[in-house]
Amino acid sequence: MATTTRSVPEGVELTWDMFLTPYFSGCLAKNGVCLFPEIEDCFLNLPFLDMARSFWKADYAKAAHMLFNINGPAANNDPAHLDGTEFRGIDLQNAPAWLLNTMAKSGLFRSWQLKKAQVIAWFYRGAIGGGFTYWPDGPAALPQRIAAPMWNKGVVAENEMMYHRAEANGPVDQRMPKGLAFNSLLQADPAVPDGWQITSDGEVIQAIPAQEARILVHGGLNCTST
Ligand SMILES: [Fe+2]
Repeated sequence: MATTTRSVPEGVELTWDMFLTPYFSGCLAKNGVCLFPEIEDCFLNLPFLDMARSFWKADYAKAAHMLFNINGPAANNDPAHLDGTEFRGIDLQNAPAWLLNTMAKSGLFRSWQLKKAQVIAWFYRGAIGGGFTYWPDGPAALPQRIAAPMWNKGVVAENEMMYHRAEANGPVDQRMPKGLAFNSLLQADPAVPDGWQITSDGEVIQAIPAQEARILVHGGLNCTST
């Protein structure tokens, strides 16, 4: 709620099911450590460090986090959100995300907010939705879009301060596979070389052709100056 600034309509009781979507995420690097040594060259990519430094006109950049999202056809009711931020001495190690986000949106703690930049790349060949909407001039101004299909296309942004969202993608009637649950898994389809499939308790509930797979890779960098 702190992320999207939406309020709950009167009489509505929130349940976890309302937040269930067929998005699958994973962490590739955390707190400056790449969890998969075979992709350290991606995580410590020199052009990414350059892009983050030039975004902030900073002297130094440090690769901090890297994550991925993979999804097939998926609804997205997110009106727009801000990514979690950090402040000098206050981060997710010692404070909840709602507090950090509320501090960021208040604008009162900008001097202590870390200079963060994200390098985000998408790989999505689908023809229905799936773009990126962003509000570079603030949430009261008109948004801009990067429209799909997009393959190895990316942005450098400060998504802790710029509202943004992924757009729903894929055929509408396939965006919520029947049987989807919080323990559902995404895996390679053994019968299709470039296909994916979603399983619930070992049962395949959806096959996703490569054409409908939307992949996002998100690198987070921190900058500083002397
Ligand atoms: Fe985000």
